[in-house]
Amino acid sequence: MLAFALFSLLPLCASAATLATFHDVPLAPSPLPAPGGRSNADAIVSAFGDLSRNTKWNLIKSIPLEGDVGEVESMVRINDDRFVLAWGNWTVPTKAYGKDAQGNTIYINGTDRTPGQGISHLTVFDGNGTRLATATLNDVDATEYHVGGMDYDGEYLWTELAQYRPNSTATAIRVDPYTYDVTPIVHINDHSGGIIHDTKKRTITMLNWGSRNASRFGLDSHDFYRQPKAVFPNPSSFVDYQDCKWLGYPTKWDRKKSVALCSGVAVYQFGDKITELGGIALVDVDTMVPLIEVPMNLLTPAGLSMNQNPVDVDVVDGKMRLFFAPDLQNGTIFVYESV
Ligand SMILES: *[C@@H]1O[C@H](CO)[C@@H](O)[C@H](O)[C@H]1NC(C)=O
Ligand SMILES: *[C@@H]1O[C@H](CO)[C@@H](O)[C@H](O)[C@H]1NC(C)=O
Ligand SMILES: *[C@@H]1O[C@H](CO)[C@@H](O)[C@H](O)[C@H]1NC(C)=O
Ligand SMILES: *[C@@H]1O[C@H](CO)[C@@H](O)[C@H](O)[C@H]1NC(C)=O
Ligand SMILES: *[C@@H]1O[C@H](CO)[C@@H](O)[C@H](O)[C@H]1NC(C)=O
Ligand SMILES: *[C@@H]1O[C@H](CO)[C@@H](O)[C@H](O)[C@H]1NC(C)=O
Repeated sequence: MLAFALFSLLPLCASAATLATFHDVPLAPSPLPAPGGRSNADAIVSAFGDLSRNTKWNLIKSIPLEGDVGEVESMVRINDDRFVLAWGNWTVPTKAYGKDAQGNTIYINGTDRTPGQGISHLTVFDGNGTRLATATLNDVDATEYHVGGMDYDGEYLWTELAQYRPNSTATAIRVDPYTYDVTPIVHINDHSGGIIHDTKKRTITMLNWGSRNASRFGLDSHDFYRQPKAVFPNPSSFVDYQDCKWLGYPTKWDRKKSVALCSGVAVYQFGDKITELGGIALVDVDTMVPLIEVPMNLLTPAGLSMNQNPVDVDVVDGKMRLFFAPDLQNGTIFVYESV
């Protein structure tokens, strides 16, 4: 019993991720700014109310990112001069176990493919896209190696490392934005690819493969293997969210709803025509019910949906700005305002 309790508590110790710094500058401003989304939640909710399928999006700025960003998964904008990108280098692809003689998908240990291999990183860029530092989040032989969405609460970065396959496992982690020390927070018995930190209720809500289910964990327990407080389906099938930013409790809903902005994509097939659609939504974090959702059809010059993976939001000069960074390897942060 005692051994189990100690084992459960152990993962809460912070461990230093391998951190390579390239310039002698602080990786984050001091003091840390409040997150842009949360500080301007009411203005963001109001701007969302004016969006539609026909909204014209104005490209304000593109920031080419120095170096190779592999496959980008999520982004936090700490301020205009510090962006943190979560990305991965998937070195051994996963491989499907295939189908049995009856044509049914083969599951081994509850999942349908081999683990594969990869390394996840967090890279800090300044406002000109200069690479300031790269943290490495896992060892090459880790089975949980796939970094997911990322939230920022004004103190820490919150993300997760998951197995790169559905119906698997993941670990939510908290990262110090000055040192990149990593603190494992909780183990989840599912894949996880999105995370929302409600600092008022002291919970994290994690979205699984394709964001089909949400699992909520309390942060008051230090038991690494604690059970989720709730697991519930995401009622929207419109797009699969990957990256979300918590906005707090906006006045539009009498400060009663915990609200996050989420962005994602889904592949739609019409006959033999296959189309990828992007979208953004404000969601009620407690139910994942979308409060406002808007499709987006922006593509990057490389042809990817702007909504593939990273998103952040702020209000600058009274206008809502959305930050995206979908492109592989040769990354760019695209900054948009709605017209
Ligand atoms: C990805 O990993 C391979 C194998 O270790 C390495 O050669 C390559 O440089 C890595 N790419 C990036 C962008 O880190
Ligand atoms: C399935 O799980 C068992 C027990 O953890 C393990 O020994 C085995 O290697 C796993 N099989 C595969 C194919 O991953
Ligand atoms: C970005 O580049 C501009 C023009 O060279 C320079 O004035 C500015 O200080 C740079 N900003 C950063 C964060 O390096
Ligand atoms: C998860 O496993 C169940 C069966 O155990 C299967 O029905 C479901 O499709 C799996 N989910 C995914 C995303 O593969
Ligand atoms: C979602 O959660 C429910 C309840 O825990 C579970 O039965 C179902 O298999 C899950 N679905 C997916 C796609 O993970
Ligand atoms: C990134 O740029 C390099 C050099 O121009 C090019 O070889 C590579 O194909 C590009 N990668 C992608 C995914 O566009």
